[in-house]
Amino acid sequence: MQGDCETSMVKADGCIEFKNVDLSIDGKLLIDNASCQIFHQGKTLIIGANGAGKSLFLRLIAGLLIPSSGEISLDHFTPLKNDRYCFSLVFQKPVLLRRSTFENITYVLRHSGVDKSAIDDLVIGALKAARLEHRAQTPAHNLSGGEQQRLALARALVTAPCVLLLDEPTASLDPASTSIVEDMMSKAEADGMKVILVTHDIKQAKRIADDIIFIHEGKILAHSGAKEFFKNPGSPQAQAYLDGKVFIDE
Ligand SMILES: Nc1ncnc2c1ncn2[C@@H]1O[C@H](COP(=O)(O)OP(=O)(O)O)[C@@H](O)[C@H]1O
Ligand SMILES: [Mg+2]
Repeated sequence: MQGDCETSMVKADGCIEFKNVDLSIDGKLLIDNASCQIFHQGKTLIIGANGAGKSLFLRLIAGLLIPSSGEISLDHFTPLKNDRYCFSLVFQKPVLLRRSTFENITYVLRHSGVDKSAIDDLVIGALKAARLEHRAQTPAHNLSGGEQQRLALARALVTAPCVLLLDEPTASLDPASTSIVEDMMSKAEADGMKVILVTHDIKQAKRIADDIIFIHEGKILAHSGAKEFFKNPGSPQAQAYLDGKVFIDE
């Protein structure tokens, strides 16, 4: 037990560590004394009610927000390839360029130092994995919602980040696209990427999580293996969340 973070796991090589992290914006404490260790293996899922602080937590990991106090360290996380990025972020609403599906992916590769001669093959592979090869020349904004999200994920993966951060990527997708996205995440994990995913979908969490971080009102109330968490969520707040109830602090 460390701070508010209860973890049953053993520290291993490759770890994102939060030590007593606070984040305040405009004088409001939004992340409150967060301490935890996220290991490089497996899929870590972040769950909690709307406004709990999940997206802020993800942005802190990515370095897009700086803690007001405390420390975040990344031990032994190095890009899989020297010329690639460390983090890729995918949001619930895909942010795409006004270009073709194919060009959305070539664009990031051209700006990530990949050898020019390798780009076309990498793009074709990425489109195949996202089941979008037949849409290569379609303007990205003409794709369906599910196809746009698969493209956003394919574009994030093609840079081979060491950590893939996903903020409710399947929240508005149909089951077929959700299944393709989950397959892409599993493949990313098998390729050595760390996957950290925010979701509201408890069934999805049960399906794919290795470990769960539960956040309530800016505090990490639990961090444990998924099976253990669903058997014993460890707090009335987490139990209420799993039961689909609003927790009322009496
Ligand atoms: N830039 C900001 N300025 C002020 N408050 C913010 C900002 N971003 C998020 N918040 C607040 O912080 C809390 C947590 O936000 P967020 O991490 O987006 O929640 P969620 O768990 O739904 O992803 C919410 O109350 C939200 O209104
Ligand atoms: Mg959010």
